[in-house]
Amino acid sequence: MSAALFTSVERAATILTDGGLVALPTETVYGLGANAFDPVAVAKIFAAKDRPFFDPLIVHLADIGWLPRVVSHISPVARQLAERFWPGPLTLVLPKSDAVPDLVTSGLGSVGVRVPDHDLMRQVLRAANVPVAAPSANPFGRLSPTTADHVWQQLGNRVDAILDGGPCRIGIESTILGIDGERVTLLRPGGVPLEEIEELIGRVRLPAAEQSKQPLAPGMLESHYAPRTPLTVVSEVPLTAPRPRTGLLAFRKTELCSRFAAVEILSPTGDLLIAASNFFQALHRLDAAGLDEIVAERFPDAGLGRALNDRLQRAAFRVPGEQRMSDATGIASE
Ligand code: TXA
Ligand code: MG
Repeated sequence: MSAALFTSVERAATILTDGGLVALPTETVYGLGANAFDPVAVAKIFAAKDRPFFDPLIVHLADIGWLPRVVSHISPVARQLAERFWPGPLTLVLPKSDAVPDLVTSGLGSVGVRVPDHDLMRQVLRAANVPVAAPSANPFGRLSPTTADHVWQQLGNRVDAILDGGPCRIGIESTILGIDGERVTLLRPGGVPLEEIEELIGRVRLPAAEQSKQPLAPGMLESHYAPRTPLTVVSEVPLTAPRPRTGLLAFRKTELCSRFAAVEILSPTGDLLIAASNFFQALHRLDAAGLDEIVAERFPDAGLGRALNDRLQRAAFRVPGEQRMSDATGIASE
């Protein structure tokens, strides 16, 4: 099977209602979508991604009015967050309704939901008139896709179709909040900065350090969002490249570019929004450049910088003693 690449909302909606898999654009990253109410279709997502069944999926809605179709209770703080940040890069984990198959939530009593801020995607949701379960459209653990071409390269032979909505505006995944009554916990930093959330609802709980070793949100696995090329995070760009074919992922402009075999500057002026929108694209390019190593500059630890540092840390993580394979076939080694 090889995916059709197109821009037709109607075709995408029909594939979804027929139980197929479509890669769909959102403002954060491309998602691999299936009808959330169809367990057989949802099972195809796990198969296509080689995703373990313990990792639950995010369900996408056309608008806030769809919430009662998938959740059983909306607490006041959940409503407040949804009204402020939707459509947008915020996922709320809420008590699930019986209509949502257990496969979507990996047997949890809660479901992650969000309204994406992407016109084409919301048109598809309306046309299909079903909530769409969609994890990021990459093989499990690998770099997230922010263009239709990334999806094509990584999963082109495993999906029915790819809806091309251009490059993703935000470029990193949604912020995920766990909502337990009035108690709000940050499960994953992402497109909505924590500062903006706390401005609205006050202090948000951060997961305890020991808990993040055994994550409830498996996007919080220590190794995730990983290129095949080994990646090292540094606080300052080194004066000399550690190996002959070292690539540099720099946050802002630097004078040291000529010392590296390949260089990606995320935002010459040091703008975090622009850096986020370029982040995964730049990593995809460096990963394809046949380098021995990638050195990545850490971001300021505020606003979107937090989410970007989180992605860097997981991209760099290597299980002690494990040799990460960089194989010529392009098949993920996990
Ligand atoms: O921006 C995004 O969130 C993108 C776009 C496509 O919407 N989606 C995305 O999905 O990043 P995914 O599957 O790559 O990451 C979703 C994360 C997973 O780590 C999953 O464990 C967590 O959300 N999650 C989903 N439902 C959950 C639940 N009920 N409880 C805890 N974590 C949950
Ligand atoms: Mg993902």
